[in-house]
Amino acid sequence: MSVEKLKSDLEKVLKKAFESIQKSENSEEIEKARILYLGKKSQINSLMKSLSNLDSQQKAEFGKYLNEAKAKLTSFLEDKKLSISSKVKTINDNFDFSMPGRNSSIGSLHPITKIMDYSIEIFEDLKFECVEGPEIEDDFHNFTALNIPESHPARAMHDTFYFEDGYLLRTHTSSVQIRAMREKNLPIRVIAPGKVYRKDSDITHTPMFHQIEGLYIDTNVSFSNLKSIINTFLKKFFENDDLKIRFRPSYFPFTEPSAEVDIEYINSRGEKSWLEILGCGMVHPNVLKMAKIDPSIHSGYAFGLGVERLAMLKLEISDLRLFYENDLRFLEQFKRAKL
Ligand code: DAH
Repeated sequence: MSVEKLKSDLEKVLKKAFESIQKSENSEEIEKARILYLGKKSQINSLMKSLSNLDSQQKAEFGKYLNEAKAKLTSFLEDKKLSISSKVKTINDNFDFSMPGRNSSIGSLHPITKIMDYSIEIFEDLKFECVEGPEIEDDFHNFTALNIPESHPARAMHDTFYFEDGYLLRTHTSSVQIRAMREKNLPIRVIAPGKVYRKDSDITHTPMFHQIEGLYIDTNVSFSNLKSIINTFLKKFFENDDLKIRFRPSYFPFTEPSAEVDIEYINSRGEKSWLEILGCGMVHPNVLKMAKIDPSIHSGYAFGLGVERLAMLKLEISDLRLFYENDLRFLEQFKRAKL
């Protein structure tokens, strides 16, 4: 067989092959053309086989010709494949725009944030204004103005994180009381929620936790006003009008008299028990004076609620540290918690 004849056979096959690849509209058609023109049983492959019948000079000549043709055809096919697949991505007539998207999981608020928001809402209904203060505080607002002088043992109780320049991470939200009293006109009725920090870490303590401070200053504010607001808040918070609440005499340098408030709950052994959830009292005259308020005219109450304690009771969680381990299996349980 002459090389010329082989070449003209090849030309015919190539013509058909290029045409059919060109006409292909999808990947199935392309694949069919590949098998037909470049596959094992293709005419081009049998032309390859016929090389063995040629003498060496013809073999070299036609072999080269054949290889070049095959390479051209292959790259034409690959280009066509690419152009089809990119078309599919951009203009796909079969794309169903109404099909629902893939489910992706949506984040949610941290349970502590939910408890804070829920508590703030209750206090706002009770006509408290929500204010904020800095987490990096100075000694004056965190201690001195709250009647905790330099040498006072209460400072040690707080295990404070200090910065080198004399600033500190506030150990309680009570520091915001001072800012509110100095900045606002009387009467003052505020809550101050936020993070507080102490060098403390065990089952019931984390170095950062949350408090909600409350402060009401007016003429004739009494301890019974304080009791009433605490009772109202707690009963609303726990959605339980029969909640057992206990005021226990206590000591804080910034209030006189002072009390701690416990509520009754069922502990992990199924027994009734008391849990302390807040400190409160009548604002100490020294604190009022420090904030330039005349204690002979004005009086007030203050309270500081432990948010984590409230959250543990409300959400029935026994280990405080769970809130801060960021285990999604724990956090996701509160996604739909209605508060
Ligand atoms: N600041 C106190 C603490 O962190 C809690 C507290 C007690 C706040 C009595 C008050 C208060 O406003 O009157 O332990």
